[in-house]
Amino acid sequence: PVKAIIFDLDGVLTDTAEGHYQAWQRLADELDVPFDREKNEALKGIDRMGSLERILADSGRTLTEAEKQEAATRKNGYYQDLIARFSPDDLFDGVRDLLLAAKAAGLKLGVASASRNAPTLLTRLGIIDLFDHVADAGAIPNPKPAPDIFLSVAKALDVPPPACLGVEDSMAGITAIKAAGMPALGIGDPAILTEADEVIGHIREFRLDRFVRPA
Ligand code: BG6
Ligand code: MG
Repeated sequence: PVKAIIFDLDGVLTDTAEGHYQAWQRLADELDVPFDREKNEALKGIDRMGSLERILADSGRTLTEAEKQEAATRKNGYYQDLIARFSPDDLFDGVRDLLLAAKAAGLKLGVASASRNAPTLLTRLGIIDLFDHVADAGAIPNPKPAPDIFLSVAKALDVPPPACLGVEDSMAGITAIKAAGMPALGIGDPAILTEADEVIGHIREFRLDRFVRPA
């Protein structure tokens, strides 16, 4: 049975997947490189510089190291403007109740987000204290789709990977969860999240009793 749940953040607990997309689209338009929602799908879960590298690679455009740093910082500024007013009202429906119910059932809770903004966002959403461990994305050797971040959270929670349920909205994230040897619950479109063990459309459909033994 599941003893811990390790959540992705952006697009799972709150609607920031859209915010990241809007910020990348604005940057891509300014750089005059092609970008759209379909290309963005493959960037979900990918870290900031990795995302920029992919956008540039697709366009054939090259930037100097300094220009890349500037562009990544600019995108982050757009993103931070979007989340600056986030509050507990921006949690997806059902998230707070789900976290409280999981804790009451004795599960450990972790966050495995590639975002350097995760601690700030979790604080704004008013839920950071509900987690036993939040990964420090900057301290993880290999980014998603590598399993490192999920393994690092499992270790910090002291729960073996097969007993950790990973919850993700991105292809890269589902790949990371499976590579870590964990069951994967996808949030989104089953036609996209094909590697997930199960897919639901929205976190409000999460049924805790499907994963834990009734007390
Ligand atoms: C992930 C998002 O959670 O975090 C990606 O899915 C984003 O879209 C990545 O690029 C890095 O976020 P940040 O906040 O460090 O730029
Ligand atoms: Mg996500």
